[in-house]
Amino acid sequence: MKKIMVTGGAGFIGSHTVVELQQKGYEVFIVDNLSNSNPDVIDNIAKITGVKPVFGKVDVSEKKELFDFLKQHPGIESVIHFAASKAVGESVEKPLKYYRNNINGLINVLEAMKEFGIKNLVFSSSCTVYGQPKKLPVTENSPIQPALSPYGNTKQINEEIIHDFVAVTPSINAIALRYFNPIGAHPSSLIGELPIGVPANLIPYITQTAAGIRECLSVFGNDYDTPDGTPIRDYIDIIDLANAHIAAINRMEEGKQKGRLEFFNIGTGRGLTVLELINAFEKATGVKLNYKIVGRRAGDIEKVWADTSLANNELGWKAKVPIEETLLNAWKWQQHISK
Ligand code: NAD
Ligand code: WQD
Repeated sequence: MKKIMVTGGAGFIGSHTVVELQQKGYEVFIVDNLSNSNPDVIDNIAKITGVKPVFGKVDVSEKKELFDFLKQHPGIESVIHFAASKAVGESVEKPLKYYRNNINGLINVLEAMKEFGIKNLVFSSSCTVYGQPKKLPVTENSPIQPALSPYGNTKQINEEIIHDFVAVTPSINAIALRYFNPIGAHPSSLIGELPIGVPANLIPYITQTAAGIRECLSVFGNDYDTPDGTPIRDYIDIIDLANAHIAAINRMEEGKQKGRLEFFNIGTGRGLTVLELINAFEKATGVKLNYKIVGRRAGDIEKVWADTSLANNELGWKAKVPIEETLLNAWKWQQHISK
Protein backbone atom coordinates (compact mmCIF):
# COMPACT_ATOMS: atom_id res chain seq x y z
CA MET A 1 0.00 0.00 0.00
CA LYS A 2 1.31 3.44 -0.88
CA LYS A 3 1.72 5.70 2.13
CA ILE A 4 0.57 9.31 1.94
CA MET A 5 0.53 12.10 4.50
CA VAL A 6 -2.42 14.49 4.48
CA THR A 7 -1.88 17.70 6.45
CA GLY A 8 -5.17 19.29 7.52
CA GLY A 9 -6.82 15.92 6.86
CA ALA A 10 -9.50 16.49 9.50
CA GLY A 11 -10.74 19.61 7.69
CA PHE A 12 -13.42 20.06 5.05
CA ILE A 13 -11.48 19.28 1.86
CA GLY A 14 -8.90 17.09 3.62
CA SER A 15 -11.43 14.69 5.15
CA HIS A 16 -13.19 14.08 1.82
CA THR A 17 -9.84 13.55 0.12
CA VAL A 18 -8.78 11.04 2.79
CA VAL A 19 -11.95 9.02 2.09
CA GLU A 20 -11.24 8.91 -1.65
CA LEU A 21 -7.57 8.04 -1.05
CA GLN A 22 -8.46 5.17 1.26
CA GLN A 23 -11.06 3.89 -1.18
CA LYS A 24 -8.35 3.82 -3.84
CA GLY A 25 -6.02 1.79 -1.66
CA TYR A 26 -3.72 4.39 -0.09
CA GLU A 27 -2.55 4.12 3.51
CA VAL A 28 -3.29 7.58 4.90
CA PHE A 29 -1.46 9.45 7.68
CA ILE A 30 -3.32 12.55 8.83
CA VAL A 31 -1.62 15.37 10.68
CA ASP A 32 -3.90 18.12 11.95
CA ASN A 33 -3.78 20.41 14.99
CA LEU A 34 -7.61 20.48 15.09
CA SER A 35 -7.57 24.29 15.14
CA ASN A 36 -10.50 24.31 12.71
CA SER A 37 -11.83 20.76 12.92
CA ASN A 38 -13.18 18.11 15.20
CA PRO A 39 -11.52 14.79 16.18
CA ASP A 40 -14.83 12.94 15.49
CA VAL A 41 -14.05 13.40 11.80
CA ILE A 42 -11.45 10.62 12.04
CA ASP A 43 -14.05 8.14 13.32
CA ASN A 44 -16.53 9.25 10.70
CA ILE A 45 -13.97 8.69 7.94
CA ALA A 46 -13.55 5.16 9.35
CA LYS A 47 -17.34 4.66 9.29
CA ILE A 48 -17.38 5.47 5.57
CA THR A 49 -14.33 3.51 4.48
CA GLY A 50 -14.02 0.80 7.13
CA VAL A 51 -10.41 1.87 7.76
CA LYS A 52 -9.22 4.25 10.46
CA PRO A 53 -6.49 6.52 9.13
CA VAL A 54 -3.41 7.05 11.31
CA PHE A 55 -3.90 10.39 13.05
CA GLY A 56 -1.34 12.68 14.71
CA LYS A 57 -2.35 15.86 16.53
CA VAL A 58 0.48 17.84 15.00
CA ASP A 59 0.92 21.55 14.37
CA VAL A 60 2.74 21.68 11.05
CA SER A 61 3.95 25.19 11.79
CA GLU A 62 6.06 23.60 14.55
CA LYS A 63 8.91 21.82 12.79
CA LYS A 64 9.76 19.46 15.65
CA GLU A 65 6.20 18.16 15.92
CA LEU A 66 6.10 17.37 12.21
CA PHE A 67 9.55 15.77 12.17
CA ASP A 68 8.77 13.65 15.25
CA PHE A 69 5.62 12.36 13.54
CA LEU A 70 7.53 11.45 10.38
CA LYS A 71 10.26 9.68 12.36
CA GLN A 72 7.54 7.44 13.79
CA HIS A 73 5.98 6.79 10.37
CA PRO A 74 8.64 5.99 7.80
CA GLY A 75 8.02 5.20 4.14
CA ILE A 76 5.66 8.04 3.21
CA GLU A 77 5.98 8.81 -0.51
CA SER A 78 3.62 11.74 -1.05
CA VAL A 79 2.03 14.59 0.85
CA ILE A 80 -1.11 16.62 0.27
CA HIS A 81 -0.77 19.88 2.13
CA PHE A 82 -4.17 21.29 3.13
CA ALA A 83 -3.29 22.60 6.61
CA ALA A 84 -3.72 26.37 6.65
CA SER A 85 -5.84 29.12 8.11
CA LYS A 86 -8.44 30.09 5.53
CA ALA A 87 -10.80 32.83 6.70
CA VAL A 88 -10.31 35.80 4.38
CA GLY A 89 -11.87 38.37 6.75
CA GLU A 90 -9.89 37.14 9.77
CA SER A 91 -6.69 37.34 7.74
CA VAL A 92 -7.23 41.09 7.32
CA GLU A 93 -7.68 41.44 11.11
CA LYS A 94 -4.80 39.12 12.04
CA PRO A 95 -2.31 39.12 9.17
CA LEU A 96 0.60 37.74 11.21
CA LYS A 97 -1.42 34.72 12.31
CA TYR A 98 -1.95 33.93 8.61
CA TYR A 99 1.63 34.56 7.54
CA ARG A 100 2.98 32.53 10.46
CA ASN A 101 0.67 29.56 10.06
CA ASN A 102 0.46 29.33 6.29
CA ILE A 103 4.06 30.17 5.44
CA ASN A 104 5.82 28.34 8.30
CA GLY A 105 3.58 25.32 7.72
CA LEU A 106 4.62 25.03 4.09
CA ILE A 107 8.33 25.60 4.80
CA ASN A 108 8.27 22.83 7.42
CA VAL A 109 6.46 20.46 5.04
CA LEU A 110 9.07 21.11 2.32
CA GLU A 111 11.97 20.63 4.73
CA ALA A 112 10.36 17.44 5.98
CA MET A 113 9.95 16.16 2.41
CA LYS A 114 13.67 16.61 1.78
CA GLU A 115 14.69 15.14 5.13
CA PHE A 116 12.42 12.08 4.94
CA GLY A 117 12.64 11.40 1.19
CA ILE A 118 9.02 12.27 0.39
CA LYS A 119 8.79 12.75 -3.36
CA ASN A 120 5.45 14.24 -4.35
CA LEU A 121 3.56 17.29 -3.10
CA VAL A 122 0.05 18.46 -3.87
CA PHE A 123 -0.57 21.98 -2.62
CA SER A 124 -3.98 23.60 -1.97
CA SER A 125 -3.96 26.85 -3.86
CA SER A 126 -6.90 29.01 -4.84
CA CYS A 127 -8.46 30.89 -7.72
CA THR A 128 -8.03 33.92 -5.47
CA VAL A 129 -4.53 34.27 -7.04
CA TYR A 130 -6.18 35.50 -10.27
CA GLY A 131 -8.14 38.33 -8.58
CA GLN A 132 -10.67 39.66 -11.12
CA PRO A 133 -9.37 38.18 -14.38
CA LYS A 134 -9.66 40.32 -17.50
CA LYS A 135 -10.48 37.31 -19.69
CA LEU A 136 -12.98 34.59 -18.78
CA PRO A 137 -12.94 31.67 -18.39
CA VAL A 138 -9.63 31.98 -16.58
CA THR A 139 -6.71 29.76 -17.67
CA GLU A 140 -3.64 28.84 -15.63
CA ASN A 141 -1.64 31.37 -17.68
CA SER A 142 -3.78 34.26 -16.61
CA PRO A 143 -1.68 36.83 -14.71
CA ILE A 144 -1.43 36.59 -10.95
CA GLN A 145 -2.80 39.83 -9.53
CA PRO A 146 -1.94 41.65 -6.29
CA ALA A 147 -3.65 39.75 -3.48
CA LEU A 148 -6.83 41.20 -1.99
CA SER A 149 -6.12 39.84 1.50
CA PRO A 150 -3.25 38.45 3.59
CA TYR A 151 -4.86 35.02 3.14
CA GLY A 152 -4.73 35.37 -0.64
CA ASN A 153 -1.19 36.62 -0.37
CA THR A 154 -0.12 33.50 1.54
CA LYS A 155 -1.33 31.38 -1.41
CA GLN A 156 0.70 33.45 -3.87
CA ILE A 157 3.81 33.39 -1.65
CA ASN A 158 3.39 29.66 -1.09
CA GLU A 159 3.27 29.00 -4.83
CA GLU A 160 6.50 31.00 -5.19
CA ILE A 161 8.19 29.16 -2.31
CA ILE A 162 7.35 25.81 -3.90
CA HIS A 163 8.61 27.06 -7.26
CA ASP A 164 11.96 28.16 -5.83
CA PHE A 165 12.36 25.02 -3.72
CA VAL A 166 11.68 22.41 -6.42
CA ALA A 167 14.06 24.31 -8.73
CA VAL A 168 16.96 23.28 -6.47
CA THR A 169 15.55 20.00 -5.13
CA PRO A 170 15.46 17.47 -7.97
CA SER A 171 14.00 14.73 -5.75
CA ILE A 172 10.73 16.63 -5.28
CA ASN A 173 7.84 17.23 -7.68
CA ALA A 174 4.83 19.39 -6.97
CA ILE A 175 1.38 20.19 -8.28
CA ALA A 176 -0.56 23.22 -7.08
CA LEU A 177 -4.31 22.88 -7.50
CA ARG A 178 -6.11 26.19 -7.74
CA TYR A 179 -9.55 25.44 -6.38
CA PHE A 180 -12.52 27.56 -7.34
CA ASN A 181 -15.42 27.50 -4.81
CA PRO A 182 -15.57 24.10 -3.06
CA ILE A 183 -19.04 23.16 -1.79
CA GLY A 184 -21.14 20.13 -0.82
CA ALA A 185 -20.64 17.22 1.55
CA HIS A 186 -20.14 13.47 1.46
CA PRO A 187 -23.37 11.71 0.31
CA SER A 188 -23.28 9.65 3.54
CA SER A 189 -23.75 12.88 5.57
CA LEU A 190 -20.99 11.62 7.86
CA ILE A 191 -18.52 14.37 6.92
CA GLY A 192 -18.95 17.89 5.55
CA GLU A 193 -18.07 21.52 6.16
CA LEU A 194 -18.07 22.72 9.78
CA PRO A 195 -18.15 26.51 9.78
CA ILE A 196 -17.48 28.10 13.14
CA GLY A 197 -19.80 30.96 14.12
CA VAL A 198 -21.64 32.96 11.49
CA PRO A 199 -20.65 31.55 8.08
CA ALA A 200 -18.84 33.92 5.73
CA ASN A 201 -19.34 31.66 2.71
CA LEU A 202 -22.48 31.38 0.66
CA ILE A 203 -23.42 27.70 0.90
CA PRO A 204 -23.21 27.28 4.67
CA TYR A 205 -25.17 30.52 5.01
CA ILE A 206 -27.83 29.16 2.64
CA THR A 207 -28.13 25.81 4.42
CA GLN A 208 -28.24 27.45 7.87
CA THR A 209 -30.97 29.81 6.66
CA ALA A 210 -32.92 26.90 5.21
CA ALA A 211 -32.54 25.11 8.57
CA GLY A 212 -33.88 28.16 10.45
CA ILE A 213 -30.58 28.88 12.22
CA ARG A 214 -30.27 32.20 10.33
CA GLU A 215 -33.31 34.31 9.61
CA CYS A 216 -32.47 35.56 6.15
CA LEU A 217 -29.69 35.28 3.59
CA SER A 218 -28.24 38.61 2.49
CA VAL A 219 -27.35 38.61 -1.20
CA PHE A 220 -24.41 40.98 -1.50
CA GLY A 221 -25.23 43.22 -4.44
CA ASN A 222 -27.32 42.88 -7.62
CA ASP A 223 -25.73 45.71 -9.59
CA TYR A 224 -22.81 43.76 -11.08
CA ASP A 225 -22.25 43.34 -14.79
CA THR A 226 -23.75 39.82 -14.94
CA PRO A 227 -27.04 38.52 -16.38
CA ASP A 228 -29.04 39.01 -13.15
CA GLY A 229 -26.67 41.49 -11.48
CA THR A 230 -25.34 39.08 -8.82
CA PRO A 231 -21.71 37.83 -8.82
CA ILE A 232 -20.65 34.70 -10.67
CA ARG A 233 -18.54 31.89 -9.21
CA ASP A 234 -17.53 28.38 -10.23
CA TYR A 235 -18.88 26.06 -7.51
CA ILE A 236 -17.05 22.72 -7.43
CA ASP A 237 -18.38 19.60 -5.69
CA ILE A 238 -16.24 18.40 -2.78
CA ILE A 239 -16.02 14.78 -4.02
CA ASP A 240 -14.99 15.94 -7.48
CA LEU A 241 -12.41 18.19 -5.82
CA ALA A 242 -11.13 15.34 -3.64
CA ASN A 243 -10.63 13.21 -6.74
CA ALA A 244 -8.58 15.93 -8.43
CA HIS A 245 -5.97 15.35 -5.70
CA ILE A 246 -5.78 11.67 -6.53
CA ALA A 247 -5.35 12.47 -10.21
CA ALA A 248 -2.51 14.84 -9.28
CA ILE A 249 -0.78 12.25 -7.08
CA ASN A 250 -1.13 9.60 -9.79
CA ARG A 251 0.36 11.95 -12.38
CA MET A 252 3.48 12.41 -10.25
CA GLU A 253 3.70 8.71 -9.29
CA GLU A 254 3.57 7.79 -12.97
CA GLY A 255 6.19 10.41 -13.89
CA LYS A 256 3.85 12.14 -16.34
CA GLN A 257 4.65 15.70 -15.29
CA LYS A 258 5.71 18.26 -17.84
CA GLY A 259 7.52 20.38 -15.28
CA ARG A 260 8.63 20.04 -11.69
CA LEU A 261 5.83 22.31 -10.54
CA GLU A 262 2.52 22.36 -12.39
CA PHE A 263 -0.63 24.37 -11.81
CA PHE A 264 -4.19 23.24 -12.51
CA ASN A 265 -7.52 25.00 -12.23
CA ILE A 266 -10.02 22.84 -10.39
CA GLY A 267 -13.54 23.98 -11.16
CA THR A 268 -16.50 22.91 -13.28
CA GLY A 269 -15.89 25.39 -16.10
CA ARG A 270 -19.37 26.80 -15.52
CA GLY A 271 -20.19 30.00 -13.69
CA LEU A 272 -23.37 30.49 -11.66
CA THR A 273 -24.78 33.71 -10.25
CA VAL A 274 -25.83 33.87 -6.61
CA LEU A 275 -29.50 33.92 -7.66
CA GLU A 276 -29.01 30.93 -9.97
CA LEU A 277 -27.46 29.06 -7.09
CA ILE A 278 -30.35 29.95 -4.77
CA ASN A 279 -32.82 28.72 -7.43
CA ALA A 280 -30.86 25.49 -7.87
CA PHE A 281 -30.89 24.97 -4.10
CA GLU A 282 -34.66 25.50 -3.90
CA LYS A 283 -35.22 23.14 -6.84
CA ALA A 284 -32.94 20.43 -5.46
CA THR A 285 -34.25 20.49 -1.90
CA GLY A 286 -37.82 21.76 -2.23
CA VAL A 287 -37.04 24.28 0.52
CA LYS A 288 -37.94 27.93 -0.09
CA LEU A 289 -35.13 30.27 0.95
CA ASN A 290 -35.69 33.55 2.71
CA TYR A 291 -33.32 36.09 1.15
CA LYS A 292 -32.96 39.80 0.54
CA ILE A 293 -30.71 41.87 -1.68
CA VAL A 294 -28.33 44.11 0.26
CA GLY A 295 -25.28 46.19 -0.72
CA ARG A 296 -22.08 44.79 -2.14
CA ARG A 297 -19.58 43.10 0.18
CA ALA A 298 -16.22 44.88 0.25
CA GLY A 299 -13.49 43.04 -1.63
CA ASP A 300 -15.82 40.78 -3.65
CA ILE A 301 -14.91 40.21 -7.26
CA GLU A 302 -17.60 40.38 -9.93
CA LYS A 303 -17.16 37.13 -11.82
CA VAL A 304 -14.77 34.24 -12.13
CA TRP A 305 -15.00 30.75 -13.54
CA ALA A 306 -12.41 28.25 -14.65
CA ASP A 307 -11.10 27.12 -17.97
CA THR A 308 -10.60 23.48 -17.02
CA SER A 309 -9.12 22.24 -20.32
CA LEU A 310 -5.69 21.68 -18.80
CA ALA A 311 -7.04 19.63 -15.88
CA ASN A 312 -9.35 17.71 -18.24
CA ASN A 313 -6.64 16.93 -20.80
CA GLU A 314 -3.51 16.57 -18.69
CA LEU A 315 -4.79 15.31 -15.34
CA GLY A 316 -7.58 13.33 -16.98
CA TRP A 317 -9.89 14.82 -14.37
CA LYS A 318 -13.30 16.38 -14.91
CA ALA A 319 -16.03 17.60 -12.57
CA LYS A 320 -18.95 15.19 -12.76
CA VAL A 321 -21.43 15.83 -9.96
CA PRO A 322 -24.49 17.89 -11.01
CA ILE A 323 -25.00 21.06 -8.97
CA GLU A 324 -28.41 19.89 -7.68
CA GLU A 325 -26.83 16.75 -6.23
CA THR A 326 -24.07 18.82 -4.61
CA LEU A 327 -26.60 21.18 -3.04
CA LEU A 328 -28.76 18.30 -1.85
CA ASN A 329 -25.72 16.75 -0.14
CA ALA A 330 -24.93 20.10 1.50
CA TRP A 331 -28.53 20.29 2.73
CA LYS A 332 -28.55 16.69 4.03
CA TRP A 333 -25.32 17.44 5.90
CA GLN A 334 -26.80 20.60 7.43
CA GLN A 335 -29.86 18.65 8.61
CA HIS A 336 -27.56 16.00 10.08
CA ILE A 337 -25.47 18.51 12.08
CA SER A 338 -28.39 20.62 13.26
CA LYS A 339 -30.12 17.59 14.83
P1 NAD B 1 -10.44 23.62 6.86
O1 NAD B 1 -10.20 24.71 7.84
O2 NAD B 1 -11.71 22.87 6.95
O3 NAD B 1 -9.24 22.57 6.90
C1 NAD B 1 -7.93 22.92 7.22
C2 NAD B 1 -7.44 21.98 8.31
O4 NAD B 1 -6.10 22.32 8.61
C3 NAD B 1 -8.25 22.08 9.59
O5 NAD B 1 -8.61 20.78 10.00
C4 NAD B 1 -7.28 22.72 10.59
O6 NAD B 1 -7.49 22.26 11.90
C5 NAD B 1 -5.94 22.31 10.01
N1 NAD B 1 -4.82 23.20 10.32
C6 NAD B 1 -4.74 24.54 10.21
N2 NAD B 1 -3.54 24.97 10.59
C7 NAD B 1 -2.83 23.87 10.94
C8 NAD B 1 -1.51 23.65 11.43
N3 NAD B 1 -0.66 24.67 11.67
N4 NAD B 1 -1.11 22.39 11.69
C9 NAD B 1 -1.95 21.35 11.47
N5 NAD B 1 -3.21 21.49 11.04
C10 NAD B 1 -3.63 22.74 10.77
O7 NAD B 1 -10.25 24.25 5.40
P2 NAD B 1 -10.56 23.64 3.98
O8 NAD B 1 -11.70 24.37 3.38
O9 NAD B 1 -10.59 22.15 4.06
O10 NAD B 1 -9.26 24.10 3.20
C11 NAD B 1 -8.13 23.25 3.00
C12 NAD B 1 -7.10 23.99 2.18
O11 NAD B 1 -7.67 24.40 0.93
C13 NAD B 1 -6.56 25.26 2.83
O12 NAD B 1 -5.19 25.36 2.51
C14 NAD B 1 -7.34 26.35 2.15
O13 NAD B 1 -6.64 27.56 2.14
C15 NAD B 1 -7.46 25.78 0.75
N6 NAD B 1 -8.58 26.34 -0.02
C16 NAD B 1 -9.84 26.30 0.50
C17 NAD B 1 -10.90 26.84 -0.22
C18 NAD B 1 -12.29 26.85 0.35
O14 NAD B 1 -13.11 27.66 -0.10
N7 NAD B 1 -12.63 25.99 1.30
C19 NAD B 1 -10.66 27.39 -1.49
C20 NAD B 1 -9.36 27.40 -2.00
C21 NAD B 1 -8.31 26.86 -1.24
C1 WQD C 1 -19.66 33.48 -3.01
C2 WQD C 1 -20.66 34.50 -3.53
C3 WQD C 1 -20.70 36.59 -2.37
C4 WQD C 1 -22.24 35.03 1.41
C5 WQD C 1 -14.05 32.96 -0.76
C6 WQD C 1 -12.62 33.39 -0.67
C7 WQD C 1 -11.78 32.67 -1.67
C8 WQD C 1 -11.97 31.16 -1.61
C9 WQD C 1 -13.40 30.77 -1.52
C10 WQD C 1 -10.15 30.15 -0.42
C11 WQD C 1 -20.10 35.90 -3.60
C12 WQD C 1 -22.01 35.87 -2.22
C13 WQD C 1 -21.79 35.14 0.11
C14 WQD C 1 -23.48 35.63 1.75
C15 WQD C 1 -23.71 36.36 -0.53
N1 WQD C 1 -11.34 30.58 -0.48
N2 WQD C 1 -22.51 35.79 -0.84
N3 WQD C 1 -24.18 36.28 0.75
O1 WQD C 1 -16.08 35.18 -1.92
O2 WQD C 1 -16.07 33.59 -3.89
O3 WQD C 1 -14.51 33.23 -2.07
O4 WQD C 1 -14.10 31.54 -0.55
O5 WQD C 1 -9.19 30.23 -1.10
O6 WQD C 1 -10.45 33.03 -1.45
O7 WQD C 1 -12.54 34.79 -0.88
O8 WQD C 1 -16.91 32.78 -1.70
O9 WQD C 1 -18.84 31.74 -0.58
O10 WQD C 1 -17.89 33.88 0.38
O11 WQD C 1 -19.13 33.97 -1.78
O12 WQD C 1 -24.39 36.99 -1.39
O13 WQD C 1 -23.93 35.61 2.88
O14 WQD C 1 -21.76 34.55 -2.65
O15 WQD C 1 -20.91 37.96 -2.57
O16 WQD C 1 -20.61 36.50 -4.75
P1 WQD C 1 -15.92 33.81 -2.44
P2 WQD C 1 -18.19 33.05 -0.81
